[in-house]
Amino acid sequence: MFYRAELHWLHLSILYFKKLAAILGISAYYHDSAAALLLDGKIVAAAQEERFTRVKHDESFPANAVKYVMEEAGMSLEKLSAVVFYEKPFIKFERLLETYHAFAPNGFSSFIHAMPVWIKDKIFMKKMLKDELKKMGKLNCPIWFPEHHLSHAASAFYPSPFEEAAILTIDGVGEWSTSTIGKGSWNKIEILKELHFPHSVGLLYSAFTYYTGFKVNSGEYKLMGLAPYGIPGSIQTESFKQKILAHLVDIKPDGSVLLNMDYFNFATGLRMTNNKKWEALFGIAPRNPENELTQDYMNLALAVQEVTEDIVLKMARHAKKLTGCKNLVLAGGVALNCVANGKLLKESIFESVWIQPASGDAGGALGSALAAWHIGFDRPRIPVIPDSMEGSYLGPDYSEIDIRKTIRKYNAKATHFDDFGELCSHVASLLAAGNVAGWFQGRMEFGPRALGNRSILGDARHPEMQRKLNLKIKYREGFRPFAPAVTAEKCKEYFDLDTSSPYMLLVAPVNESRRNQSITDETDLLKRLYHQRSDIPAVTHIDYSARIQTVHQKTNPEFYRLLKAFGQITGYEVLVNTSFNVRGEPIVCTPDDAYRCFMSTEMDLLVIGNFLFRKEDQAKLDGVLKGAKAMD
Ligand SMILES: [Fe+2]
Repeated sequence: MFYRAELHWLHLSILYFKKLAAILGISAYYHDSAAALLLDGKIVAAAQEERFTRVKHDESFPANAVKYVMEEAGMSLEKLSAVVFYEKPFIKFERLLETYHAFAPNGFSSFIHAMPVWIKDKIFMKKMLKDELKKMGKLNCPIWFPEHHLSHAASAFYPSPFEEAAILTIDGVGEWSTSTIGKGSWNKIEILKELHFPHSVGLLYSAFTYYTGFKVNSGEYKLMGLAPYGIPGSIQTESFKQKILAHLVDIKPDGSVLLNMDYFNFATGLRMTNNKKWEALFGIAPRNPENELTQDYMNLALAVQEVTEDIVLKMARHAKKLTGCKNLVLAGGVALNCVANGKLLKESIFESVWIQPASGDAGGALGSALAAWHIGFDRPRIPVIPDSMEGSYLGPDYSEIDIRKTIRKYNAKATHFDDFGELCSHVASLLAAGNVAGWFQGRMEFGPRALGNRSILGDARHPEMQRKLNLKIKYREGFRPFAPAVTAEKCKEYFDLDTSSPYMLLVAPVNESRRNQSITDETDLLKRLYHQRSDIPAVTHIDYSARIQTVHQKTNPEFYRLLKAFGQITGYEVLVNTSFNVRGEPIVCTPDDAYRCFMSTEMDLLVIGNFLFRKEDQAKLDGVLKGAKAMD
């Protein structure tokens, strides 16, 4: 049942402003640490720590990200008006204590495992943060701690283009909240209802992520990608759904959920599920990550995906009823479930939906800073169209001098194009010939998706492109689909989508006129995977869906220009866009990272700024790896 929410925001006395009000937001110590900086309420910079340390989902104090955002603003820590941490550690600690108490004596071993860390570090978070920041400079401003879900809500509402909107935040868990429904109006946010731990949509989804052999907190995306391989309406899929609803989760009409904790271990143990009970219920064992993905797991993925979509739709309808708003904004890890988002849009419960691109906990850094500005300092807000995220291109960029340094360091061979248009035409013709390109331009994206500044690109029409990208470049699970990037104005020619999707957070079907006959009864996964489902097979998922990025001239003129150039040659203003990294590594940040990634895969060309690198011109891989090692 949803609870009425109480806001725990500290009542802030009026603080004097220094010349320019600078607010630093930080998320850390769970996963995806990040830092964000606001100057007089404007988002100046935001980045995840993993991009600098090269440790995927890095959870440590984001020293590099803080350093970067401060440099981007051209100021020292001394000038900050506030530092804001994205959650309240004391309340989180209280939740852990109460949970252990409620489930005692179960969970004693994980209790004694976790408590020393909490007592030593996390409940003294303020001191810990101060100590870390002091290493980087003088600090003479307060440190604030808004609630985890207020940070998510603020990250969803304040950058959105709406004066007023319903706010839905859904994730695993923050302090106590696992989902909230709120209302945003100008600079105010009111949290109307909360769903409390352990009853959590995010944790339900994570439990299935774990059971199907993927990593919790990062593999949820893979589970979503696996779901379309499930057979809709099949006896097994329907039976799995019935079992989930009868034994694991009770869904109320308002979308709130009650989990049957007999089946889950996350409250007390170090595992997500009670494996014995799950195996007895579903008749399949938890999948070992290295084992084959059989139809059983695909059907299980589809079952939980459909249950999740049902919950999200019910929550959205309830949010509409509570707020009466015509717009909806979303954040929290579950808001990255773009299949559910696509369904939400299709249902037309709200006229418009806006989703924070950094919807996971990294976005909490940004949200907490925005909450401090608009709620803490009570500063007004003027919504911006299309939004105030600057296309989410909020990370570092690199100059021509930096690129030349990389070229020299690796003794690389690159051609400089004075005319960017000429470079685009050249790259477009190479892409049209089936080559794969690393594409590195301008500021790095904030959030989990590469949106055309740190991307790997290929021709979506090419029958072998999906296989090539999976096996020779990304070294990742073959079943995972690739996403199309399409110029905003041509989107409707390819996809059944009426709105823009600049952050690749909406899934919609490929137009029927482009589809080829399906082979859904084929049991061989690889045959189904590589079946040419449309005239853009590399971005058409098995159920004809596509995870779309619309590219806009205003927010990414370089990528837009490349798509236009590709369209001039081929008639298609659409490309495969996948993140510039290999499996298990964070997306590249620097030209150096990009060159090393380029050389360690079978990518054919690399574009950094106005430089074009072709693989056949480069020195042997061995030499590069030596250089790379020297750098580590
Ligand atoms: Fe969260």
